[in-house]
Formats: sequence, C-alpha cells, structure tokens
Amino acid sequence: MTALWSQAELTAAFGAAPTAPLGAPVSGVSIDSRTLEAGDLFIAIKGAAHDGHDHVARAFESGAAAAVVSRERAGRLAAFGPLFAVDDTLGAMERLGVAARARSNARIVVVTGSVGKTTVKEMLRAMLSACGATHASAHSYNNHWGVPLTLARMAVSARYGVLEIGMNHAGEIAPLTRMARPHAALVTTIAPVHIEYLGSIEAIADAKAEIFLGVEPGGAAALNRDAPQFERLAKAAVAHGARVLEFGRGADCDARLIEVEAIDGGSRVTARVLGRELSFVLGAPGVHMVENALGALLAAEALGANLDACASALERFSPQQGRGARFSITTPDGPAIIIDESYNANPASMRAALKLLAAAKPGPKGRRIAVIGDMLELGPKAKAMHAELAADLSASRVDLLFGAGPLTRALYDAAPASMRAAWAERSNELTDEVARALRGGDIAMVKGSNGSRMGPLVAALRDRFAHGAGG
Ligand SMILES: Nc1ncnc2c1ncn2[C@@H]1O[C@H](COP(=O)(O)OP(=O)(O)OP(=O)(O)O)[C@@H](O)[C@H]1O
Ligand SMILES: [Mg+2]
Repeated sequence: MTALWSQAELTAAFGAAPTAPLGAPVSGVSIDSRTLEAGDLFIAIKGAAHDGHDHVARAFESGAAAAVVSRERAGRLAAFGPLFAVDDTLGAMERLGVAARARSNARIVVVTGSVGKTTVKEMLRAMLSACGATHASAHSYNNHWGVPLTLARMAVSARYGVLEIGMNHAGEIAPLTRMARPHAALVTTIAPVHIEYLGSIEAIADAKAEIFLGVEPGGAAALNRDAPQFERLAKAAVAHGARVLEFGRGADCDARLIEVEAIDGGSRVTARVLGRELSFVLGAPGVHMVENALGALLAAEALGANLDACASALERFSPQQGRGARFSITTPDGPAIIIDESYNANPASMRAALKLLAAAKPGPKGRRIAVIGDMLELGPKAKAMHAELAADLSASRVDLLFGAGPLTRALYDAAPASMRAAWAERSNELTDEVARALRGGDIAMVKGSNGSRMGPLVAALRDRFAHGAGG
C-alpha cells in the first residue's frame, strides 16, 4: 500500500494531532463507510440525509486508518480508533485538499459546463494517463465536497490532475476552482440547465465563468466556439488573465474539426489542433463527443501533454453507462440495440442524443425508437421546451415515441400522431409497452433526467431480454 498522507502531514493540515498514533500511513480518503477501503482516512461529513459520525464505528471495522470527526462527537468515538477532532469536518477536508494541491507538482485541468463534464473528464483521464500518472475525480464528484475530496485523494506522485466542477447556483464554482488552482480550465457548453435557480442563460454563463477565477497565472481557458455565450465566456477568461483556446468548426479555431466520419461505435476524426493535423478514432459516437474531444485535446496540450499520445488514447475511450453506452438485446425475432442515455437530460443533451439516434442505422425491418422521460429543473418554460423537441424527433426520423412523465406529455402531444406509441405518468408504467414493441433491428434510445427514472427502465429491459455487449 502506498502512502498518501503521513501522520505529520495530516496533523499539519488539520491543526490537530490524532487522539492515538496511526498504525500505518493513510493510503486513501473516504467519506462513505460503505465503500471505504482498508487504510483509508474516514472523514465524517454531515449531509442532508446522513451524518458520517453515525458510521465511524463501521468505518473502523472496514479498516479505516483514522477518522476526522467534529470535536463534540470525538469523546464517544475515540474508543474505535485514532481520531482527528476538528471544529468542522468539511472545512478539514477542504484544508486537506488545499494541502494536496500545495505539495503537488501535477499539471491540473478543471472541467465545467452545462453538459459533458464527466464525459470530458473521462476523456482527459484516458488521454493524460497515456502521458503520465493521472488523478481524476471519481463519478460526478463535482461539488462542495466532491472537489475537496478529489484533491485530498491526489497522490504527490500524480503528474496530471483532472477535476470536474459543477454548480446549481451562482457563487458555487469560485471557491472550488480557487482550491484546485488549475493550469487549464475547460467549459464544454452552456445550456439552460438549472435555469430555475439562475434565471437566464447569461447568468448561467457568468456562473460557469467563475471557473477562471482559480486559473494559475499564464493558464489557459479552452472554450467551445460554437456554443451559446462563447463571447461572454471568452471575455471573462481574458479578464481573469487566461489565454483563450477555441475549439469548434471555425477556420480560425485552435482546435478545428476538419472531417468526421461515423464508424461502428464511434467516429473517425480529422482535426487541426494548434497547427498540427491529427487523425484519430474516437470510441464514442456523436458529433457532440467530437466537440468534447477537441476541447479535451486543447486542454491536454495546454498542460504540456503529448498530442499524438492523447489523440490515440481516444480510441480506448467509451461512453459511460447512462451516457450513450449501447448494448444489444435479443428479441424473439432478432437482436435490437438499446442506447442508454438515462443518466441525465436537458434540451442540449437531448438534441445530441436524438442526432445520435438519427445517425444510427436500424436493421432491415428495424425502427428508430425514442423513449423519453422528463427533463427536470428547466424552470417555468419547461413544458414548451419539451414540446419544441417534436421538430427534432421528426428531423431525426424517429419512427416511434414512448413518453413518461407530465412534462413529456407536452412533447407527446406535439409529436405527429403516427409517431405516438405510448405515454405514461411514470417510467415504470412504460416498461411493458416498450418491451412489447421491440423487434429485431430496432434501435431504441432511452433518455431523461435522472429523477425521471429512465435508468430503472433500461435495467428492466436489460433483465427482460438476454443481452450482449456492443452493437
Ligand atoms: N457536448 C455535449 N453536448 C450535448 N450533450 C452532451 C455533450 N457531452 C455529453 N453530452 C451528453 O450529456 C449527458 C450527460 O453527460 P455527462 O455525464 O458527461 O454530463 P455532466 O455535465 O457531467 O452531468 P452532471 O451535471 O450530472 O455531472 C450524456 O447523455 C452525454 O451523452
Ligand atoms: Mg458529471
């Protein structure tokens, strides 16, 4: 087990010595006793639903090396193992994150945007891992605890660090990017997500632009030239002293898409990146994935990584579960494909997913099927934003539409009658209808916000039919 933190480093970061000496140096950091691994430091965080302090005993049973707890709770918990008693455990985790950053020689990139953060983070992880030891955020750990936790987990040996940073409200990104002090910041795209908290697309752009506040002097901002609010973001980046790098289709873009050809399970891409022509295979289909890849290449180059190694690593990248991953099912009259987009949805990612469906080729008797659930957090215009997608359904040559949820009802009603297959209030009431409809050669794309529970629908389809990988 390699040491992540010594007792002396932890004592310095927390400003408190442990109640008993640690048996061994700490090898990881955890805030969840269920996934904690032996040797981890357990930080007891009080969340909305759970209080980590109630799980300290279990953390030690699972082999925690030590725990960080609030001073009031320390007295009773000291019997279980060595404790660092602090005023505020979240604050302590932030201090550990700051200490990790301070001791690090890694080149750091942060990723934000309305959609595609995790996708780009994983692309950068794949690219940079080909160039040197790379540390990246787990899952979508992108908020007030996710970012400090990710930093606190960064080994001193890391050459590259990749952090996802997200927000629901203005002011949330600023402290996180200041903790990360990145050498490059990438904004994927701006779309009306969380608009109910922010009010306008300009306000969303301004909240994302906080990402530049933490950029190190001489650092870079990689921005999508073709996305809404580009000018506003670029202005903010320059105001904070960042060097703007543009990706997109424009002739003067620093990373410019020249040609993209859809191939089985991905794309073959030719691009011009900082004066160099690159040809590479991207292991995820969709033009939005190509945009993400171009941004990631720029950011990686800004960190000093080798562009050729980064580009060839993209062949090994594949979309995550719920973000465009595909699997095949066996229906009574042959195989059909499910595109699982159930993790998340907003108008931007819904349109991208419908384009993916348009580009997919059904078998001889197969059809394009859209199984759509509500896109949440869209504010007062939510219904209209759903209905507007009817045009995209037609443009994508969707044959059948299945809808779940009250907002999607507006889309269902706006869709051509010939397309309407079934609608239900809740996703679980739709599973039987979809399963009955599926035939050999079909391609079904399932998408909705996480809260509209399209994921369980995908899982139910997977269970119902024998399935294989790929497709
Ligand atoms: N550039 C893009 N434009 C439109 N849609 C995209 C783009 N990149 C990814 N997507 C789609 O958006 C969805 C969410 O992707 P991803 O998980 O990467 O986003 P995220 O920003 O990390 O989301 P979260 O805020 O939940 O962490 C997926 O369906 C993905 O295919
Ligand atoms: Mg994410």
